[in-house]
Amino acid sequence: MNDNQDVIGQNVVSHDVVAGSHRLDGTTEQLTTYYGSWAATYDRDVHNVRYQGPHVITDLFASVVPRHLSGCGGLTALDAGCGTGLVGQLLDERSVTALDGIDLNHDMISLAAKTNAYRILASGVDLNLGLREIAEDTYDVTVCCGVFTPGHVRPAAVDGLIRVTRPDGLVLLSTRRRYLDETDFEQHLGTLVDDGRVSILECHADRPYTADEPAQYRILTVRK
Ligand SMILES: C[S@@+](CC[C@H](N)C(=O)[O-])C[C@H]1O[C@@H](n2cnc3c(N)ncnc32)[C@H](O)[C@@H]1O
Repeated sequence: MNDNQDVIGQNVVSHDVVAGSHRLDGTTEQLTTYYGSWAATYDRDVHNVRYQGPHVITDLFASVVPRHLSGCGGLTALDAGCGTGLVGQLLDERSVTALDGIDLNHDMISLAAKTNAYRILASGVDLNLGLREIAEDTYDVTVCCGVFTPGHVRPAAVDGLIRVTRPDGLVLLSTRRRYLDETDFEQHLGTLVDDGRVSILECHADRPYTADEPAQYRILTVRK
């Protein structure tokens, strides 16, 4: 086999493992097992499928957060579903004083710890259970990238992100296009807006995500 075939073979494997994660049933057990065996090659595989989520969301962070949360001094932020820490590594250290990360999976969190981008990291935290481990209004900004995707969290997981973010703080999240097609995420978010819990500051549709699918990126202002 020549080098070119090697690369093609590796890309097929990467595509398959990413696609496999979208066929999970969203239970804690399946997600924990899948990511536990994927953690070691996660960064390579998402690179091979040209995953852009962390780049797009941290660019949005850099353009929006200073404009909307200026004068607040040091910002505290949460990376929810931080995985191996791709988002944390790209966040500009000057704009965040303290970045914490949570994830369901211990192996992913162990890799995030090696980036030295995070103050506190915790595994075993399930976004589907409302983030009750974290006090209300703890963070100025919450980022959630690559998690509102098929087979992962339910739309109502956004409620926990809002709960742990302080009033007038921001929630930045990505939603893969197919997730929007297959769930009632937009309806759920519409109800939160109608109830005055959040407003939509920005919504960027069809922005780069992976080689085969775009995503929406939203920035929400927390109202409570
Ligand atoms: C596609 S990865 C994204 C990781 C990282 N944010 C990134 O952009 O590279 C999805 C991450 O969400 C985590 N995850 C999936 N379901 C979760 C849940 N219910 N609660 C917390 N984390 C979850 C997985 O363990 C995994 O680390």
